[in-house]
Amino acid sequence: MARRLEGKVALVTGAGSGIGRASAVRFAAEGAQVAVVDLKGAEEVAAAIDAAGGEALALTTDVADEEAVAAMAEVAVDRFGRVDVLMNNAGILEDFLPAADTPTEVWRRVLGVNLDAQFFTSRALLPQMVERGDGAIINVASTAGLNGGNGGATYTTSKHAVIGFTRQLCFDYARLGIRCNVICPGAVETGMTKEIFASPDAAVMAAVESAPIGRWAQPEELANAALFLASDEASFVNGAVYVVDGGFDSK
Ligand SMILES: NC(=O)c1ccc[n+]([C@@H]2O[C@H](COP(=O)([O-])OP(=O)(O)OC[C@H]3O[C@@H](n4cnc5c(N)ncnc54)[C@H](O)[C@@H]3O)[C@@H](O)[C@H]2O)c1
Repeated sequence: MARRLEGKVALVTGAGSGIGRASAVRFAAEGAQVAVVDLKGAEEVAAAIDAAGGEALALTTDVADEEAVAAMAEVAVDRFGRVDVLMNNAGILEDFLPAADTPTEVWRRVLGVNLDAQFFTSRALLPQMVERGDGAIINVASTAGLNGGNGGATYTTSKHAVIGFTRQLCFDYARLGIRCNVICPGAVETGMTKEIFASPDAAVMAAVESAPIGRWAQPEELANAALFLASDEASFVNGAVYVVDGGFDSK
């Protein structure tokens, strides 16, 4: 069977860990050349992809830094000739702080990483997609992008904004051949959540287990959804909010 991303180039942010790492590894196994972008861990993930017979480029970049993103995008396009699939996945939590307890620097940093970065990478890589009339952007939001209560004030705001940003990307670029979709993960066991899920806090575990499926996800289960949206199998999927949460939001 043909590999599902054969001949494509993918760039994944936050690919040093968790959902991003699993997606980068899966994309490479399906034939994509992959730019692995992260503040830390990019080299190790790229080496693992290379060792498995794939082709990866490690780019250690702060995606909230506008100039660094522009330079990083240029390096990726220089190396591979283009980027067909952009997965905007890097994200940080803010300790579930309510608005009155949120320092301005926390607000700015979380919005910088979770939202501004998706704009910076999209702006940098859209022109070469438009030129070819082909491309796929996958933005990672959260069930915190659908409701209050799954994050603090800043995280929830950032994830709602990611959904709005993606819908507008779809509106502006669908007729130019570009598909822009959002994934909303529920609870996934990653670097971001390990400590929270390991806490003896019964309320946290009750919230996770209240998903109809009764457990949290492994990052590979999110990578499967990302792979579908990245591939040509999703040719008519555009502007979709793809909820992958074990039924958590269906209650
Ligand atoms: N884990 C969950 O339960 C869950 C649920 C819903 C949504 N999400 C979202 O999924 C995405 C991936 O999170 P994860 O759970 O895999 O977490 P993770 O912490 O395992 O991975 C996130 C990665 O992003 C990187 N990163 C953070 N700031 C960065 C920056 N400024 N520049 C470059 N890289 C940066 C981190 O170094 C890390 O490697 C995030 O957007 C997160 O909000 C996660």
